[in-house]
Amino acid sequence: MAPRTSPEVGGMGHSIKRKEDPRFVRGQGTYVDDIRLPGMIYLDIVRSPFAHATIKKINPSKALSIPGVLAVITGQDLAKYNLHWMPTLMSDTQMVLPVDKVMFQSQEVAAVLATDRYIAADGVEAVEVEYDPLPVVVDPKKALEPGAPILRTDKKDKKDNHIFHWEVGDKSATEKAFAAAKTTVRQDIYIPRIHVASIETPGCVAQFDKVTGKLTVWLTTQAPHAIRTVVALVAGHVGLSEEKIRIIAPDIGGGFGGKVPVYPGYVIAIAASVLTGKPVKWVEDRMENLQADSFARDYHITAELAAEKDGTLTALRIKTIADHGYTDAAANPSKFPAGLFGICTGSYNLKAAHVQVDGAYTNKPPGGIAYRCSFRVTEAAYAIERMVDIMAHELNMDPADFRRKNFIPPDKFPYKSALGWEYDSGNYDGALTKAIEKIGYAGLRKEQAEKRARGELMGIGISSFTEIVGAGPSKHFDILGLKMFDSCEIRVHPTGKAIARFGTKSQGQGHETTYAQIVAEELGIPAGHILVEEGDTDTAPYGLGTYASRSTPTAGAAGAMAARKIRDKARKIAAHLLEAREDDLEWEPGKFFVRGNPGNAKTIQEIALAAYTNHPQGMEAGLEAVSYYDPPNLTFPFGSYICVVDIDKGTGEVKIRRFVAVDDCGNIINPMIVEGQIHGGLTMGMAPALYEEINYDEEGNIQGGSFMDYLLPTAVETPKWETDKTCTPSPHHPLGAKGVGESATVGAPAAIVNAVVDALWHLGVRHIDIPITPAKVWKCLRDHGVSE
Ligand code: CDP
Repeated sequence: MAPRTSPEVGGMGHSIKRKEDPRFVRGQGTYVDDIRLPGMIYLDIVRSPFAHATIKKINPSKALSIPGVLAVITGQDLAKYNLHWMPTLMSDTQMVLPVDKVMFQSQEVAAVLATDRYIAADGVEAVEVEYDPLPVVVDPKKALEPGAPILRTDKKDKKDNHIFHWEVGDKSATEKAFAAAKTTVRQDIYIPRIHVASIETPGCVAQFDKVTGKLTVWLTTQAPHAIRTVVALVAGHVGLSEEKIRIIAPDIGGGFGGKVPVYPGYVIAIAASVLTGKPVKWVEDRMENLQADSFARDYHITAELAAEKDGTLTALRIKTIADHGYTDAAANPSKFPAGLFGICTGSYNLKAAHVQVDGAYTNKPPGGIAYRCSFRVTEAAYAIERMVDIMAHELNMDPADFRRKNFIPPDKFPYKSALGWEYDSGNYDGALTKAIEKIGYAGLRKEQAEKRARGELMGIGISSFTEIVGAGPSKHFDILGLKMFDSCEIRVHPTGKAIARFGTKSQGQGHETTYAQIVAEELGIPAGHILVEEGDTDTAPYGLGTYASRSTPTAGAAGAMAARKIRDKARKIAAHLLEAREDDLEWEPGKFFVRGNPGNAKTIQEIALAAYTNHPQGMEAGLEAVSYYDPPNLTFPFGSYICVVDIDKGTGEVKIRRFVAVDDCGNIINPMIVEGQIHGGLTMGMAPALYEEINYDEEGNIQGGSFMDYLLPTAVETPKWETDKTCTPSPHHPLGAKGVGESATVGAPAAIVNAVVDALWHLGVRHIDIPITPAKVWKCLRDHGVSE
C-alpha cells in the first residue's frame, strides 16, 4: 500500500500550518534545584571507592559530631522497612543502599542528612567505611566464562553471571542463506558505554505531610505517572498509598533516557522525608552523574552479512553480548530484554535474519537506558549501516549504489521485516537521492580519487537508517505491566480558551508549543489560547511518559483524538444554536457553518460559551474530552546522512568537512522544533563516534568519570549541519506524523565511521571502534604503513 496523507490533515502537505509566529516557542524555568521549601533538609551520598567489596563497618560518629548533620542512613536502617532493595524496570533488583557489599565504583553506600547542602557534603567526607575488596569482573565476555566469580550472590540460586538470552528470526533459513551466499562479511563491533550528561543532573525534593499523609515529590523524571505507581507498589507497606502520592516533574534540563530510571537518591530522599516529616532535597553532582547514573549502549556485537554475486543482500546474522552492569535496570518494554534491537535489518530488503543477545552482569553501574534512542535502535542502526558499508567496499561497489540496490522499495510498504516488524511507510531511495544531490556526491568521489592519488586521506560515509518509534501498541509493549499508551485531556472553558493536559513530559522538546499547535489545528482555537500542561500526576491524565521519541506518535495523536471528540460535541451544539441538522453543517477550523450559507455560522468560542450556558436539553454541560491513545503500530521514521571527512596523517585527527542530513518524520507539526531536534541529535550522534566513552580498568576504576576525560563535544567541535527533509506520512497516525527526537543521534554515528573507514579502506582498514580518537587513527595509520 502506498503511503498516504491522513485525510484529517486535509492535504496540508508535510507541514501542519501554524497560525502563529514560527519563532514562538514556549517554556518556563523552574527546575528541581530551584525549589526551596521552609524547613528543607539536604541529602548527600557516600559512594564506594571500590568496584566490588564487602562492607565491614560503617562508622558515622565523626559525621554526626559535625554541627548541622542530622543523621547518617545506611542500608541496615532501610532494611528495617524493607526498602534497601528496589525493583528495576526489567524486574531485576537494585540496591537502594547496601547491607553487605558494593557492586560498582561510586555505588551509594550511605546517606547523610543535614541542615545545609555543604554541611551534608562535609558529613559525607567524615563517614568512615571499612571495605574488604572482592575480585572484580569488568569484561562481560569473561563474566560469562565458567569459573568467573559470581556477582549476584544475593540471588540464592544464581550460579553464573548470565542475565538473559533473547533471540529472534529464522535460524535455519539464515544458515541456509549464508551457506548459499557468494560473499559474506563478518565484523566484531563494540559500541562503548556512554552516560547521559544532561545540563541538569537528576534530583528531587520529597515532601511528606505527616498530618494529611500526602507525599509530594518534585522529580526530574521523564515518566511521572509510572513513578507514582512504582512508589505506591514499593512503599505501600509503609503507608504510601497511590491517591496520596503526587509526582511533579517540573522543567527538566534534558532527559535523553537518563531520567527514566528510579535512582537510589530519590528513594532515600522519600524515605527520609517520611521519617522526618521535613522536605528533603537531593541533587546529584556532575561527577556522580557520570560515574553512577544509568549507562547506555555497551554492546559487543559480532555481525555477519551475506550477499549474492550481483550484490543483492540475502541474510544477516548477529550475536551480541550486552553488558548490563550489576543489575538489569534497562529501561526497556518488559517483553523486549534487548529493546528494539530487532530492527537491525534496517532499510534493507533482507529475506532472512537471526539475532541473539545475551545479557551479562559485571561490576559496573546498572542500566541499559535508551540514550536518545528507541530501546537499542541506535545499536541496531549502527550495526547494519556499518555492515552494509563493509559489504559494499568488499564487493568494490559504490556504497550509495549498493544501498539503492538493496533498499526496501517504496511500493513494498507496509513491509514485514525478516525479524517480524511491520514498517508503516518509507521511501529510502528518495531520502538518499536528496542527500546525494545536496552534497554533490559524484563530485566528491572525483575529488577523493584525486586526493588519494596525491596520498591525501578523504572519506565519504553514508548512513541510510530506519527507526522504530512510538511504543505501544500496548498489546506488545508494557513497562512493569503498565501498558504503553498515552493520553490527553482537553477542557474548553466558557470563553473559548482551553487547557490541554498530557501524560507525557517534555524535557526541552517543546511540547508546550507543538501540542498547542495540534489542538489549535483541530479546534481552530488560537494556539496562544491553549495552555499545555504535563508532568503533574494530580492533574494530568495517566500516561507512560516521554522517551524513545514516543510523544508525537502517542500523546500527540491523543491530542488530536481528544480534540476530535470535542469537535463532535461542538457540532451538536452548533446544530442546536443554528437550528440546523448536524449533517448540514460544515467545519472549517474555528467554526461550523450551514452548507451553502457560510455567513450562517457559529465559532468555536460561541459554541464553547453555549456548552455552559445554552446547550441542548438532555446534553451534559461542558466541552471536555479525554483520549487514551493506543497506537495500532509503531512509526518508522528514517533518513539518509552523508558525511565527508578529511584525516590528518600527522596527528590522526578526523575533521568533519560536511555533513548533510535528510530526515523523514512524516508530517511535521513544527518545522523549527524538528530542525532543532535534528541539530542537537546530530551533535549527540557525533559525540560517541568521535569523543565520548566510559571504560574501566581491571580493578573496575572508572576512566572518564569527569569532563576532563569524558569529552562532551561543544559548539567548538560541532560542524555546520546541513539539514533537509522528505515527507512520507505515517498511514496510521491521525496526523500522519512520526517521531523525530532521536533520529539524528541514531543515524549519525555510522555516517561518520563509514566516512573514516572509507578514507582508509585502500590501506587495508576495515573497521575502527568508536570513539574514533586521533590516537586510534594515528596508530592505525602507522600499523598500515602510513607516516606523514
Ligand atoms: O518524545 P519526544 O518528544 O522526545 O520526541 P518526538 O515525538 O519526536 O517530538 C520531539 C519534538 O518534535 C516535539 O515537540 C514534537 O511535537 C516535534 N515534532 C514535530 O513537530 N513533528 C513531527 N513529525 C515529530 C515531532
